[in-house]
Amino acid sequence: MPAEPQIKVFDSAAELSRGAAEEFCRIGVEAIRKHGRFTVALSGGSTPRTLHQELATTFCSKLPWDKVYFFWGDERHVPPDFPESNFRMAKETLLSHLSVPARNVFRMHGELPDAEQAAQLYQENLREVFRPSPGEFPRFDFILLGVGPDGHTASLFPGTKAVEEHQRWVVGNWVEQHSTFRVTLTYPVLNHAANVMFLMRGTGKAEIVYRVLRNPSANLPSQKVQLIDGNLMWYLDKGAAARL
Ligand code: 6PG
Repeated sequence: MPAEPQIKVFDSAAELSRGAAEEFCRIGVEAIRKHGRFTVALSGGSTPRTLHQELATTFCSKLPWDKVYFFWGDERHVPPDFPESNFRMAKETLLSHLSVPARNVFRMHGELPDAEQAAQLYQENLREVFRPSPGEFPRFDFILLGVGPDGHTASLFPGTKAVEEHQRWVVGNWVEQHSTFRVTLTYPVLNHAANVMFLMRGTGKAEIVYRVLRNPSANLPSQKVQLIDGNLMWYLDKGAAARL
């Protein structure tokens, strides 16, 4: 039975970003102490920007960045220099400010015409870095997630094929509601992580946070993130927690 999620509410958006950065670094130091590296999957969207900025400034001396391996939970079907690119956002707000070796950064190739090919390429990247035994799944030390107004997380959108995937680690996913493909990690990878943090900011998130955390029968994609053997955290500011 997955453990109950840990819900932490912060008084302000600034305190939320600081609290999330602190926890990121605490988990990172522990992972590097235990197994010599810290494997992280970043999220897209707008919410992670302020966390990235905290990590790139106040917290930049807390981790040996050459031991941190960066992946993404999902990517838009665009080249890495496009404004919608999750990779571009992370590069501008985090990676370009830290001494992370390029060989430690594994972006999803959203520019490939065939999103499924980008997914297969990424599955090979994961296999090379994590080297799981046959039948096992890669185990991230830390995965950052957000939730959209329809309850999607990563690019696991309601009613799409990817929410039914239980074998493959990464898939190309057609999202009818946005008339586009996305590349996304699947539930088996999310649920095999050691730590997953949902980062939610502002009153605009209060309704969906309430539905996800207080309405188990809502059957929302983000509700299916249930860690098999890990620590699930919801980091919220007062606005996002307003209805709890
Ligand atoms: C993406 C994300 C997506 C995001 C939510 C929340 O590529 O868009 O990975 O799952 O986390 O849509 O986005 P906001 O933080 O912008 O509200």
